[in-house]
Amino acid sequence: MATQLHRLLSLLFLPFILFRRGSSPPQPLHRHAATGDDPGLHPIVLLPGNTCSQLEARLTDAYRPPSPQCGAAKGSGRWFRLWKNATAMEDPELAPCLADQLRLVYDPVARDFRNVPGVETRVLGFGSTRDFLSDSPANKDLCMGRLVEALEQAGYRDGEILFGAPFDFRQAPAAPGQPCRAFARFRRQLRALVEHASRKNGGKPVVIMSHSQGGYFALEFLNRSPLPWRRRYIKHYVMASTGPGGFLLAMQQLVSNPSAALSFASGFTGLPSPKVFGPGTLLVVTRVRNYTAQDIPEFLEAIGLPPLAATLYETRALPVKLNFRAPVVPTTCINGVGVPTMKELVYWDGNFSKSPEVVYGDGDGLILLASTLALDTMIGDDPRQEHYKSIKLAGTYHAGVISDGEALERVVSEILGVQE
Ligand SMILES: *[C@@H]1O[C@H](CO)[C@@H](O)[C@H](O)[C@H]1NC(C)=O
Ligand SMILES: *[C@@H]1O[C@H](CO)[C@@H](O)[C@H](O)[C@H]1NC(C)=O
Ligand SMILES: *[C@@H]1O[C@H](CO)[C@@H](O)[C@H](O)[C@H]1NC(C)=O
Repeated sequence: MATQLHRLLSLLFLPFILFRRGSSPPQPLHRHAATGDDPGLHPIVLLPGNTCSQLEARLTDAYRPPSPQCGAAKGSGRWFRLWKNATAMEDPELAPCLADQLRLVYDPVARDFRNVPGVETRVLGFGSTRDFLSDSPANKDLCMGRLVEALEQAGYRDGEILFGAPFDFRQAPAAPGQPCRAFARFRRQLRALVEHASRKNGGKPVVIMSHSQGGYFALEFLNRSPLPWRRRYIKHYVMASTGPGGFLLAMQQLVSNPSAALSFASGFTGLPSPKVFGPGTLLVVTRVRNYTAQDIPEFLEAIGLPPLAATLYETRALPVKLNFRAPVVPTTCINGVGVPTMKELVYWDGNFSKSPEVVYGDGDGLILLASTLALDTMIGDDPRQEHYKSIKLAGTYHAGVISDGEALERVVSEILGVQE
């Protein structure tokens, strides 16, 4: 039963390689010129990456627990920590409860992903960076803990000029026209937070910074906000470790856990995009059939997913990928390069239960260089995009961009640099 949780989580977890530091260990940062009462300081709102937001849950009478123990808190109205709850994860009796309560289900009537009936969830600490996951040094690196420290050293104060926009990482923005209550709610909350941050700071426009999965939320938020609103409220967008191309690991994770594939709306977000990887780029190779980013629906079928999976991919996830575009606010993209990154999976005899042979290319350990370079054309070359800058950090891992000493220094000076 604990393996059920393991399977579910492996779709969310990024492997340890992403936690690994690049060449330079974190160092005490130089104090930057800015202080809290610097009249030039713009407020900043941070969106962290996958699994970095924490979730609380409560169980109503409608909950049908997989075992009596899982229903113990039913109807009590008590909110408890669903993610991250190390006690429940490590307890063999409670792990299956966690697996059951953490998954989403697709509701064909509402045409939307929602919690299992009887499970209510909420994101912990919206508005602040204080509840970003930091229960271990690795999670502190991955979840902006070091970045927050560096910003605080530079004079930013949480709740005054520094704000956090954690989100339900199990969800994903869906194509316009597809119901997605979770993302609609997040957009309302983030809009209100940005306006609040600006108001609290003399009406100054706000810097938004995202890492990894947070970038999909931030970019869709910006692109679906009216242009006059963006011009009024957004000073700058800093997108770290996000590319338009997705990543191969998302395919491998689906292959290893097809049964959990429909348990999260975010399961398809990372799949390689046909907008970046053309019909000449093989992603998955077998003796009888090869798959490119154009063949994802066939790939989903080949690994044993029900037809609903391909439909959801084509109607909810793919249009968002194809619509990846310039936010039309001043933007800086920061990505690691020079790290071996999965570029092709070989299941030669077509047996997807076996471990693939992996071919590596250049990237940040997760995102391929081709995807980072595509930012230059998809955002940088858009004639409406007036300011675009891309920073490529050599030898820096996906999470190193927001945690390595030198990378952090660069990111913070970039944020301070947009103040003028
Ligand atoms: C962790 O989960 C268990 C059961 O799922 C719950 O009883 C406990 O209160 C949770 N911990 C926290 C800190 O909420
Ligand atoms: C798939 O690609 C491999 C490697 O390029 C090639 O050897 C093989 O013939 C291709 N298979 C098919 C069915 O096209
Ligand atoms: C596929 O590989 C798995 C794991 O190695 C093995 O148990 C299974 O029998 C293989 N299936 C086929 C059809 O060869």
